[in-house]
Amino acid sequence: MAQNQINLINLERMFDDLAQNNWAASSTVFTREFCQNLAHECQKLHSEGAFQKASIGRGVTKTVHTEIRGDFTLWIEEDAATPLQKAFLSNLQLLLQKLNQDFYLGLKRYETHFALYPPGAGYDKHIDNHRGSGARKITFILYLNESWQKGDGGELSLYQPDQENVLITQIEPLLGTLVLFRSDLFPHQVEKSFQPRLSITGWFRDDAS
Ligand code: OGA
Ligand code: NI
Repeated sequence: MAQNQINLINLERMFDDLAQNNWAASSTVFTREFCQNLAHECQKLHSEGAFQKASIGRGVTKTVHTEIRGDFTLWIEEDAATPLQKAFLSNLQLLLQKLNQDFYLGLKRYETHFALYPPGAGYDKHIDNHRGSGARKITFILYLNESWQKGDGGELSLYQPDQENVLITQIEPLLGTLVLFRSDLFPHQVEKSFQPRLSITGWFRDDAS
């Protein structure tokens, strides 16, 4: 598989939107075949029981709150990555470089996990930047649902910074849709999903590991 699965021209278009709005969504950055392969791997790993109930907070305050956040996750770590995951990580590294080139963000690393929301699960309104730590600069989400239909729920609702009741947009979690937004700005929520909802979520950070 070719290492670069990113359409750089479409990425630049997406970055124009990101520069203007601090968020952007595009379904033409990653190749469809790459996303399909990631979707199949996500399904397989989930069926093998590799995912864990997601938690909220860090350290001693880390807790599982199913009513707030209902997804299951599997962190993708370089050391344990499959060839496909390695390819994905190298594409993230390319994204990181491009973000630094265009936005001077001083990004140093990323963290990323597969996520699966079982039917009935969602994620209440929140901001991704952990309180007291501003290291998460840009949130990315790549959706992996090939046969998503109207009525399946699971939209990502993005709200206005500083006006958390003003809805900006709702994004359907369709295979290949990539979302980027400033991690410190946007309240957002995952609407209740009625089908298993697959994605890869992560954050570009400006701290060293
Ligand atoms: C998150 C999150 C949104 C989504 O994991 O912090 O908000 O659409 N995910 O999966
Ligand atoms: Ni979030």
